[in-house]
Amino acid sequence: MTERPYLIAGNWKMHGLRQEGLDLARAVAERAHGALTGRVDLLVCPPATILGPVCDALADTPVAVGGQDCHPEPKGAHTGDVAAEMLADLGASHVIVGHSERRQNHGERSALIRAKAAAALRAGMTAIVCVGETREERDAGEAASVVSRQVLGSVPPGATSANCVLAYEPVWAIGTGLTPTLDDIAAMHAMIRDRLSEVMADHDQVRLLYGGSVKPANAAEILALADVDGALIGGASLDADSFWSIAQACR
Ligand code: PGA
Repeated sequence: MTERPYLIAGNWKMHGLRQEGLDLARAVAERAHGALTGRVDLLVCPPATILGPVCDALADTPVAVGGQDCHPEPKGAHTGDVAAEMLADLGASHVIVGHSERRQNHGERSALIRAKAAAALRAGMTAIVCVGETREERDAGEAASVVSRQVLGSVPPGATSANCVLAYEPVWAIGTGLTPTLDDIAAMHAMIRDRLSEVMADHDQVRLLYGGSVKPANAAEILALADVDGALIGGASLDADSFWSIAQACR
């Protein structure tokens, strides 16, 4: 049984015009109010365009707000990019880095992701560093070595349990309805925690999230695994009731 508080994080991806996002944020906050204090931390990561309004709407609630990506530099000639400091300035406390949709669609490699995570720390935020193998890598028996390399390559210097969270998200499980077996998730999380001992002093305290087709129906069994300290949720986070019922599955 973990003593680390759970983190239930919603990754809204590229979903949500302003009113829609505000309605969803408020619906999550209404359900969350006071109910899970100290046991489960809640986070929503809206698109950058509505981060400010969502931060304002959730300011006096237990729901934290995060960005979905950031640039390594604090400012500069980087058209279209957003600095970690800019996210923090709006009220964001977390930022996802290295999501597989960025690793795959934008060719991001671990060295860049480590620089982005370092930027999050520099801005006083918590980095959520994502790792995970593709179907081909799993089928080739390379899942553990790929994820291990990503962990060692993506965690920035100075990372601790207070400013860094890891999210294991097998690429083939994201948005597909497929999930690894519970044994596979448990084995991967144990391996990740072991690897973290090489790069983090307090690796025992770091929260490890599972992500990839987490739904109300499978959340309880996944969240009950020893080294699973929460979930990073895409599709099911776009519905306040589903998101809330996943949070309630934390025991
Ligand atoms: P999913 O996405 O829950 O829709 O599978 C998870 C993620 O990409 O973080």
